[in-house]
Amino acid sequence: MWGPEGLDEVEAELLGPPQELKGKAVLEIGAGAAQCARWLAAQGARPVALDLSHRQLQHALRIGGAFPLVCADAGALPFADASFDLACSAYGALPFVADPRLVLREVHRVLRPGGRFVFSVTHPVRWAFPDEPGPEGLSVASSYFDRTPYVEQDEQGRAVYVEHHRTLGDRVRDIVASGFRLVDLVEPEWPAWNTSEWGGWSPLRGNLIPGTAIFVCERD
Ligand SMILES: C[S@@+](CC[C@H](N)C(=O)[O-])C[C@H]1O[C@@H](n2cnc3c(N)ncnc32)[C@H](O)[C@@H]1O
Repeated sequence: MWGPEGLDEVEAELLGPPQELKGKAVLEIGAGAAQCARWLAAQGARPVALDLSHRQLQHALRIGGAFPLVCADAGALPFADASFDLACSAYGALPFVADPRLVLREVHRVLRPGGRFVFSVTHPVRWAFPDEPGPEGLSVASSYFDRTPYVEQDEQGRAVYVEHHRTLGDRVRDIVASGFRLVDLVEPEWPAWNTSEWGGWSPLRGNLIPGTAIFVCERD
């Protein structure tokens, strides 16, 4: 699943036709509970699920699956050069790092020539709107161009959640500067069947403004 709109890989085929995934080495970045890796394994691929959070990987372990789980920072991948055919990330790592080029360069390094990296993030346009599902989430409240990160702190003033904003242009430049070719930018439309509200995600907003941006990148 690429994002809250509900676009899944069976429909999108951004990693290629599912029947061609068989035997492919695929790295999932910011895997969380490894939903994508589990689906990839079911298609006959050889996924590796990577996340910074040991706790998330414990959930992945509890749910199960016959693929390796790796606890590491996406900005310092513990893999040899050119060791994966594909890489994917659904809202993993990239929105949470101050320097996304570190991650992109690392993914580029571990992909084989011709390899594809597909990643989704919150659509940059959403940054300017309040994260509310109702009409209050439809009026611009802050600058799209303000790259000051969103930070939540605990009582001791330690950052416990940080999200970094990149404009659409920033993302394109990051991808190109890291050596990738941008093949497609997918902006899933909110489908009629999806009536759920979750955080700032809702049919009302989804029908009017994009919520997810999916970047399809290739290593030449
Ligand atoms: C919003 S969750 C997405 C999880 C999963 N991909 C999904 O679709 O549900 C983001 C994940 O990225 C992980 N993450 C954040 N920064 C990371 C980093 N620098 N390296 C690796 N993983 C990271 C978090 O621990 C979290 O599990």
